[in-house]
Amino acid sequence: MEKRTELYSGKAKSVFTTDDPQRFVLWFRDDTSAFDGKKKEKLDRKGAVNNQFNAFIMQKLEEAGIATHFEKLLSPQESLVKRLEMLPIECVVRNISAGSICRRLGVAEGLDLNPPTFELFLKNDELGDPMINEYHAKSFGWAEPEHIERMKELTFQVNDVLKALFLSGNMLLVDYKLEFGLFDGEVLLGDEFTPDGCRLWDKDTREKLDKDRFRQGLGDVVEAYEEVGRRLGMSFDY
Ligand code: C5P
Repeated sequence: MEKRTELYSGKAKSVFTTDDPQRFVLWFRDDTSAFDGKKKEKLDRKGAVNNQFNAFIMQKLEEAGIATHFEKLLSPQESLVKRLEMLPIECVVRNISAGSICRRLGVAEGLDLNPPTFELFLKNDELGDPMINEYHAKSFGWAEPEHIERMKELTFQVNDVLKALFLSGNMLLVDYKLEFGLFDGEVLLGDEFTPDGCRLWDKDTREKLDKDRFRQGLGDVVEAYEEVGRRLGMSFDY
């Protein structure tokens, strides 16, 4: 496999083409951003930690029967993935209230949500990723009805697998965002699962171990991500 040209550079990852038209290389950079890119910093080791964390989680999901785009680790900061036709929608599940739902609905942080909520957001930087419902997605043609059903089903399957996994490391999976894409007509989990795109709290102290440390200026951001990995039995290469 030969890495070729940079196709796209996002806020924290870059995507490269390869000599295989059906495969991309993801390069996890040290860049960290929040608030629609208004707060930005480079954090030492973050690219390597997130790349290897993502690989670990994607493999756990594959073992549980959830199809993902992940193929293999290539280097500390690079992974090989299937080339997906991405659906322009973010799927968010919340087990505990935090973040935007507290601001939107005026509810306190830390409430157990039973059942967990499922929300859709349109991927659109200019509009600040507005929340949409399933009818918006269908009526405007952003996703086919059967693809929305499948994304929802997979997002909840991920919840079952990862809630249990993080609990084994004495952590609560508060919420998370997933993105999906099509490969040969099948909906696969794409993008990444890292502490950049989820909330994780220590079960006893409720200490935040995710990107809220960056958003809220709490410090020790990458150290917290490494701690999450250690609790799951991971070790990192830099
Ligand atoms: O900001 P909000 O509370 O809606 O985020 C819910 C979850 O989705 C959080 O874990 C957050 O990190 C993640 N998220 C994300 N990318 C976005 C929006 C939310 O990873 N663009």
